[in-house]
Amino acid sequence: MTEKHVDSVTGVETTGHVWDGDLRELNKPLPRWWLYVLYACIVWSIGYWVFYPAWPVVNGDYTKGMFDYSQRGEVSKEVAAAKAAQSKYFEQIAATPVGEITKNEELLPFVMAGGAAVFGDRCGPCHGKGGGGAVGYPNLNDDDWLWGGTPEAIQQTITHGIRSGDPEARDMAMPRFGLDGVLKPAEIADTAQYVLSLSGHSTDAAAAERGKTIFADNCVACHGEEGKGNQDMGAPNLTDGIWLYGGKLADIEKTIETGRGGVMPYWTGRLDPVTIKMLAAYVHSLGGGQ
Ligand code: HEC
Ligand code: HEC
Repeated sequence: MTEKHVDSVTGVETTGHVWDGDLRELNKPLPRWWLYVLYACIVWSIGYWVFYPAWPVVNGDYTKGMFDYSQRGEVSKEVAAAKAAQSKYFEQIAATPVGEITKNEELLPFVMAGGAAVFGDRCGPCHGKGGGGAVGYPNLNDDDWLWGGTPEAIQQTITHGIRSGDPEARDMAMPRFGLDGVLKPAEIADTAQYVLSLSGHSTDAAAAERGKTIFADNCVACHGEEGKGNQDMGAPNLTDGIWLYGGKLADIEKTIETGRGGVMPYWTGRLDPVTIKMLAAYVHSLGGGQ
């Protein structure tokens, strides 16, 4: 039952709905401020439909709006801008010799960031994330270099690798004195004692004395008269107490027996020359660059 009616208490007309015989609803107008906000929203939404993508249409498409705006488009524009900014750096790096990159204040921050990222990815599995190394994998943070620590030498090592099978790889290997029967086990033990004596760690002076002659006959060609090594051959310095394969007597005996022959992969063809240059500069910066 509906019946319009003016409420006697408030003087406001009711909506005409009546419940339970005498319960009526006052017909109060919407607040002004609320209505204005509603109208403003309607006007704004029409503007939005005109200028921005809004309504779905057939075929999974949608109205594009006069501004032709899309978030995907904005991201592509940003990516293109970042690429353009980077390619400027890439061109400069390509044109700059690696030895000068390490002195170039403008390029260096970019090169360090790029080098660190690739290093973590490609080199970290063997050399450790920060280049700290492990047994058989040289520490790249110290100034003890097997093959040389100038930016150019490092670039060469990374490009062609070590005993990697690349035609220009660093190839010199230590002979397998034990496996190939050049030295008998007792001679190897004596030579190992002599090698230890070079850094003051020999435990048997008589054996070291015997080993001295064997060393002079078999080892100085690569490791030098004083055992200080030779970077042209990748022959480590044996006097500094820094060991690639461990400094215990048994470790050194094993090295003499087998020659070890550590392999570092080549990266030419797998990383572009600019990335290799960035890596060389990064490794050079790790602490022990020459
Ligand atoms: C599969 C393991 C492996 C990976 C991956 C690897 N290396 Fe090596 N790297 C070695 C080994 C092993 C040696 C030492 C070889 C030797 O005994 O002379 C070496 C040696 C080096 C040296 C010479 C150090 C010196 O004292 O002269 C440099 C520089 C180097 N690596 C840089 C890199 C960089 C940069 C990367 C990444 C692009 C990389 N390595 C990836 C195993 C690896
Ligand atoms: C043809 C050159 C050559 C000759 C000869 C040679 N070495 Fe080496 N030696 C190397 C090279 C190269 C390495 C590095 C091997 C590697 O990185 O895998 C090495 C590594 C070593 C190491 C390991 C050092 C470390 O840091 O762990 C020891 C020890 C060593 N040599 C001792 C000797 C002794 C002793 C002799 C003589 C009996 C000898 N070498 C003869 C080239 C030579």
